[in-house]
Amino acid sequence: MSLPTFGHAMLPEWSFEPGTTYLNHGTVGATPKRVTQAQDALRALFEKQPSQHLLREITDFRYLDQPSIRPQSRMREAATAVAEFVGARPDDLVFVDNATAGVNAVVGSLDLREGDEVVLDELGYGAVKLIAKHFASRAGAHVRVLEMPYPGFDRALILKAYRDAITPRTRLLIIDHVCSGSSLVLPVPELIEMAHAAGVPVLVDGAHAPGAHALELSALGADWYTGNLHKWAMAPRSCGILYAAPGRHEGLHPAVISWGYGQSLAAEFDWVGTRDFTPYLAAPVGIEFMQQLGVARMRDYQRDLAWDAALRLSRGWNTELPFERSQVGSMVTVPLPQHAGSTAMDAHRLRLALLVEDRIEVQMHSFRGRLWARISAQVYNESADIERLATALSHRI
Ligand SMILES: Cc1ncc(COP(=O)(O)O)c(C=O)c1O
Repeated sequence: MSLPTFGHAMLPEWSFEPGTTYLNHGTVGATPKRVTQAQDALRALFEKQPSQHLLREITDFRYLDQPSIRPQSRMREAATAVAEFVGARPDDLVFVDNATAGVNAVVGSLDLREGDEVVLDELGYGAVKLIAKHFASRAGAHVRVLEMPYPGFDRALILKAYRDAITPRTRLLIIDHVCSGSSLVLPVPELIEMAHAAGVPVLVDGAHAPGAHALELSALGADWYTGNLHKWAMAPRSCGILYAAPGRHEGLHPAVISWGYGQSLAAEFDWVGTRDFTPYLAAPVGIEFMQQLGVARMRDYQRDLAWDAALRLSRGWNTELPFERSQVGSMVTVPLPQHAGSTAMDAHRLRLALLVEDRIEVQMHSFRGRLWARISAQVYNESADIERLATALSHRI
């Protein structure tokens, strides 16, 4: 079987408006048509017998004495396919709406006490910091946000920064697999090992990892790992996962409590009230699509394109890249020249002008007193997209 050519030849698989240059897959992942079609087919099927599907097929949970009439419920079937893809036991893996819900579930389930600490770093996702702050403040606990050696990103310095931030009151370390704004890939296995040596459990925020990075969650050693399938794993929105190590099921609850409370990880998370389950059920179709494309081949393409983009743009802008190739994956965040601006409003204006006037969607933000562009490289992108961005920006800065 011949494998498809990546780049614009892949665009017919997606629904983008013609003429759009989409370099923002990391923020809002675009769902392939075949996945939304599979999801639509499931919705159509369920509408034929809504009660049967919702009450007797979706979960194994014996909700009101109505057990699943399938040998395996649809949610467990989908979770099993996803678990295989991310190297987890199906019993340790549940679906959540998104990484935000995964983080809420884990932090909200902690038995935090007055004076306890939750440690995370400044490059972490803003909403994750707020979740930690919310649950910590309810318990009289604190959130310690450690400063990251960035620019100047270095494995040993990061390990030291985390090690120095841990105290006898640290109850949880939250680390990003792929940092949001900076696109940096953190040394997750080493950080977990260091935290465990200090007796601190670890939640990994892998919002950008599934699909873009090979995962072996059972072997990784994290206590909890949450990630999105609706970014790089080709699933429809909203579709995230939460992994809990075998010894970490106890006491872990979804943010929304329902009929499965206290029964099992799957019972609690598979049913969080009546809802649309089709994003989860269609997730295996996204995985099959990636497998048809060749998962390793797809990742190589994304990484090569992202790295070439980083080189091309930083040379054009005469700025220095604050990372090496091995420290990034399918996304790169490149500093713009100082004269491009420095504030969040400068970033907003520039980004909006690119979208409205040039039809280029790219993430742009201000950090450490300058603007940065985060480029996402998906298989439908090619170097012409980067050239288009470079040209459009050359007229604007
Ligand atoms: C590192 C990180 N964590 C969490 C999230 C939240 O993802 P979601 O909005 O899908 O919950 C994001 C979103 O981009 C992210 O970058």
